[in-house]
Amino acid sequence: MSTHPLEVTAKAMVAPGRGILAADESTGTIEKRFASVKVESTEENRRAYRDLLFSAKGLGQHISGVILYDETIRQKSADGTPFVELLARNGILPGIKVDTGAKDLAFCPGEKVTEGLDNLAKRCAEYVRMGAKFAKWRAVITIGADMPSSTCVADNAHALGRYAAICQAAGLVPIVEPEVLMDGEHTIERCEEVTEWTLNAVYEALYLNRVTLERSVLKPSMVIAGKSCPQQATVEEVAERTVRVLKRTVPAAVAGVVFLSGGQSDEVATVHLNAMNRMHAGKLPWPLSFSYGRALQQPSLKAWKGAAANVAAAQAALLHRARMNSLACLGRYSPDLERQALAA
Ligand code: 13P
Repeated sequence: MSTHPLEVTAKAMVAPGRGILAADESTGTIEKRFASVKVESTEENRRAYRDLLFSAKGLGQHISGVILYDETIRQKSADGTPFVELLARNGILPGIKVDTGAKDLAFCPGEKVTEGLDNLAKRCAEYVRMGAKFAKWRAVITIGADMPSSTCVADNAHALGRYAAICQAAGLVPIVEPEVLMDGEHTIERCEEVTEWTLNAVYEALYLNRVTLERSVLKPSMVIAGKSCPQQATVEEVAERTVRVLKRTVPAAVAGVVFLSGGQSDEVATVHLNAMNRMHAGKLPWPLSFSYGRALQQPSLKAWKGAAANVAAAQAALLHRARMNSLACLGRYSPDLERQALAA
């Protein structure tokens, strides 16, 4: 039985001790991130920032793939090397965000549906020609009074199914990302219930759309109490509930699971991933890894502040978080390692 190239890519994305760097912030989102460190969001600043991330020496040891944004996949390193080539040289697979954002869902106030299916096959073909190996589409589910609605869950699942099929037909591994937002006062029980509902709907839609699960990767949120819920769960409870939901809903054929950080602090995101891997080592059908945006980049962005003189410190900060999360994939992380690195 020959192994399909997309299956090889999907496996490589979740190889032991490796995970994904989400650097696909849209122009609007990166503007907010830059504003937090008082950096103006010009095209050159965005290029320079991504350049420092992608050229960090040794990043490929812990990072299997980077998700790019449409502007970024067309940009080059300071020495003229296209980013796609720079990443490939570091042993990192280039990926691309192909959705065009979460938009208001008609007749469902407060809820969103992700757009981007129009011309998707054509856009995917161009990205493949540019060297992209995988894609990402993020659906957003909000928890609140009477939310999510069945409309929101069904529409987002349908879009994820259509997206995943179009990607596979074009030669890209789809990262399927249904994010249940942390915003709100909801309990961890409610988050678990909504996550189970959403993932069930998503895998039904993937089946209906003839997606080959071995050639796909899931990017879920962790099961966590709402940010404003007075009752916050322990690390063990988050790990137990998250793994329980995945076992109930995610077919064993899926190549791997890479979590988003979703607004958890960088260390908390690492601690949770580590707990899941320590508690369930060798007992799950899929590797559990990371595809963090903020939780990988935050310390780096703070160290950089837009100054060329800070590039080395910013790269060191990124490499440190990448290494910590790599250890968490293997269940070998400990908070002491953070202090040791600070002391070094
Ligand atoms: P966060 O880890 O910051 O949630 O970002 C991951 C991502 O790619 C969201 O789509």
